[in-house]
Amino acid sequence: MKILVVGAGGHLGGEVARLASAAGHEVAGTATTAASGWSPLDIRDRAAVQALFAAVRPQLIVNTAYRATEWATCADGAANVALFAGNARLIHISTDALHAGRPEPYADDDDPTPITMYGAAKAAAETAVKAITPSAAIVRTSLIIGDHRSAQVRLALDLIRGVRQGALFTDEVRCPIDATDLAAAILELATTDYAGTINVAGPQVLTRAELGELVARAHGLDPASVPQCTIAEAGAGPRPAWVTLDSTRATNLLGIRLRPASEVLRP
Ligand SMILES: NC(=O)c1ccc[n+]([C@@H]2O[C@H](COP(=O)([O-])OP(=O)(O)OC[C@H]3O[C@@H](n4cnc5c(N)ncnc54)[C@H](OP(=O)(O)O)[C@@H]3O)[C@@H](O)[C@H]2O)c1
Repeated sequence: MKILVVGAGGHLGGEVARLASAAGHEVAGTATTAASGWSPLDIRDRAAVQALFAAVRPQLIVNTAYRATEWATCADGAANVALFAGNARLIHISTDALHAGRPEPYADDDDPTPITMYGAAKAAAETAVKAITPSAAIVRTSLIIGDHRSAQVRLALDLIRGVRQGALFTDEVRCPIDATDLAAAILELATTDYAGTINVAGPQVLTRAELGELVARAHGLDPASVPQCTIAEAGAGPRPAWVTLDSTRATNLLGIRLRPASEVLRP
C-alpha cells in the first residue's frame, strides 16, 4: 500500500512511517522543512497540500501534524488534508485535550468540551474532518511517551536536570501511550472501515508527576528529583486536569495490547 504520513518528521509520524516501511509498504512523508529528508509541506497552504497529494496519490493518509500554539495548523491544516484526501483512507490524529476534564473516563463518541485554544482547535479539526471525509477514522490519544523523541519524556528529563524551569503537576491526570504501540494501532485501524472518533490511549492512569517519576527511574535518576506542584500552585491558566480515555473499543476492534506506561518506561 502507498502511505503518506503527514508530519513524518515528528515523533508519532516518524514511528508510523518506520513501522509501515518495515511492514513492506511504500511510504512517503512530510515535514515542515526538507532537512529531515521528507517532502516539505505546510498544511496551512491549501494549494501545496493539493499539489503534493496529487503527486503522491496515496491509498492511506495518516495526519499527525500539529503545532499546539497554531490554530491554522491544528484546525485549518487538518481541514486542508481532509479536503484533498480524495479516495485515500484518512486517519486523523486528535487528542484527549479537547475534553474539559472530569473523574469519569471519556467514551469514544463523547462531544468535545474544550477549555484551551489547543483543545478548541483540535475539536474544530474533528468537525471539519468528519464533515469533509465522513469515512475518516479520528484517533483521540493521550500523552505520547517512549524514548528521547517524546516531548513528554524530554520535558521530564529537562526539569529534573534543571535545563528547564517548571514542575510536573500532581493533579493533572492522563493515560500515556507508547509511540510504537500507538503507531501500530493506527496502521491496524487503517485496515478496517472504522469511521468517526475512537480512543487509543494507554491503560495506566497517571498524574504528570507520576509519569515524570517513571521517566526518572527509566533513566537511572532519582524520582524524588522530579519538580512537582499543583496546577493552582503553578498559577497556570485553565487546563483540563483529569482526563482519562476509555480505549475498550479500540482494544477489542484492533486485537492489540496497549502497554501501561510503567512497562514502557522500565529502568
Ligand atoms: N505529543 C503528545 O503527547 C500528544 C498528546 C495527545 C495528542 N497528540 C497528537 O498526536 C499528534 C502527533 O504528536 P507528536 O508528539 O508526534 O508531534 P510532533 O513530534 O511535534 O510532530 C508534529 C509534526 O507536525 C509537523 N508540523 C507542524 N506544523 C506543521 C504545518 N503547519 N504543516 C505541516 N506539518 C507541520 C512537524 O513538522 P517539523 O518536524 O518540521 O516541525 C512535525 O513533523 C498530533 O496530532 C497531536 O495533536 C500528541
